[in-house]
Order: sequence, then C-alpha cells, then structure tokens
Amino acid sequence: MKFKPVICPISSGINIIIREAHPGNALALTGCIQAYLKNQTIPLTKDEYQPSPKEQGKWISKFQEGQHDLLLVAEHEGRIIGNIDLSMHHRKMLSHTGYLGMGVHPDWQQKGIGKLLMEKLLEWADNRSGIEVIWLQVFGNNLLAIKLYKALGFVEDGRQADFIKLDNGRYTDNVILSRKK
Ligand SMILES: CC(C)(COP(=O)(O)OP(=O)(O)OC[C@H]1O[C@@H](n2cnc3c(N)ncnc32)[C@H](O)[C@@H]1OP(=O)(O)O)[C@@H](O)C(=O)NCCC(=O)NCCS
Repeated sequence: MKFKPVICPISSGINIIIREAHPGNALALTGCIQAYLKNQTIPLTKDEYQPSPKEQGKWISKFQEGQHDLLLVAEHEGRIIGNIDLSMHHRKMLSHTGYLGMGVHPDWQQKGIGKLLMEKLLEWADNRSGIEVIWLQVFGNNLLAIKLYKALGFVEDGRQADFIKLDNGRYTDNVILSRKK
C-alpha cells in the first residue's frame, strides 16, 4: 500500500474516506466516472467509456503496480463518489513527469471533495522523490476546475484555442496546466 487511507470531514459534517482504489472497486468506479462524463468536461463520452469490470480491474491494478502511479478514490458510506489518478511517464527523459486526471460525481461536486482529492495526491507526490512535474489538460470553459488547480499551485503552460468540439457544435480551448515541485 502506497497511500495510507485518511478520513476527512467535509464542510457539512460528513466524513469522506480517501484511499487507494483496488480492483474490487471496478464497477463502482466505472459508475462514478460515467456519471461525471455526462457533463462534457472531459474529452470522452459516456458511450465511449464502457469498460468491462475486467478491463477496469486491470486499469486499477496498473496504478497499484506502478512505483509512482496512484489512483485514489473518495468514498462515502461505501459509495465511490470521486477519483484522482496520477500516471508517470515511462520514457526516460519524461519519467519525472506525471499526468493527472480527476472527477467528482455530480451529486457531490462543489462540496470540497475535488480539492481534498487534489490536496492528498499532491501531498503524497511531494513526499516522493522522482515526481517533479504534474500536468493536466482541462477544457477552457471549465472555470471551476481551472480555479481549483491554480489555487493549488498549477500554472497555465499554454492553450490550444478552440481545440475541443462540444456536442452543441461549439468549441472550447484545451488548456495545459502544470505544477513543478
Ligand atoms: C472539477 C471538479 C473535479 C472539482 O471538484 P469539486 O469537488 O466540485 O470542487 P470543490 O468543491 O473541491 O471546489 C474546489 C474549488 O473550486 C472553487 N469552487 C467551488 N465551488 C465553486 C463555485 N460555485 N463557484 C466558483 N468556484 C467554486 C473554489 O476554488 C473551491 O475551493 P474553495 O472553496 O476552497 O475556494 C468537479 O467539478 C468535477 O468532477 N467536474 C467534472 C469532471 C471534470 O471536469 N474533471 C476535471 C477535468 S480536468
């Protein structure tokens, strides 16, 4: 186990457990991710994202096995309500960099859970040698997410204007943010 589970009270007096995911969480994690994909803030549709429990279990195992990879989930009363993952690059010249993804179930957004997941992952990463740069991509119209990332030390490296085409035919920027140790 790379990450010791923590119980965190959120503002409304509710306790959330932040812990590493294990393959037994495959179905529950898929359900949570599919729920937040509905809002079109990640370049992946719910229809495209239909991993079988076996495929999802394999994806989760990859994080358990990778030395610096980490997949954390937020859990409330046995339900998975959010996740964050860090995948370190395998090529030597990029092996100090890791790519981050995250999301919170729509019923649980704007309650501090995204911030909590990010804080716990960054704390963990900052205490390990070998992780120097964490980066991510975010839609230009996802202002809440960008605000959260910047508040936690990420800076904008660049943006691809109108790179993402949404269902309504409109476009939004692809913004690249990174945080250096
Ligand atoms: C982006 C996302 C992960 C944020 O998680 P969250 O749990 O909703 O966010 P939090 O409640 O932790 O809020 C974090 C910060 O967002 C900002 N925020 C929260 N609610 C806000 C609101 N109503 N208006 C403006 N800013 C707000 C604040 O900076 C807040 O920190 P603060 O309260 O300490 O000031 C979540 O909304 C989500 O899963 N969205 C869908 C998937 C997605 O977009 N993933 C990211 C792709 S890069």
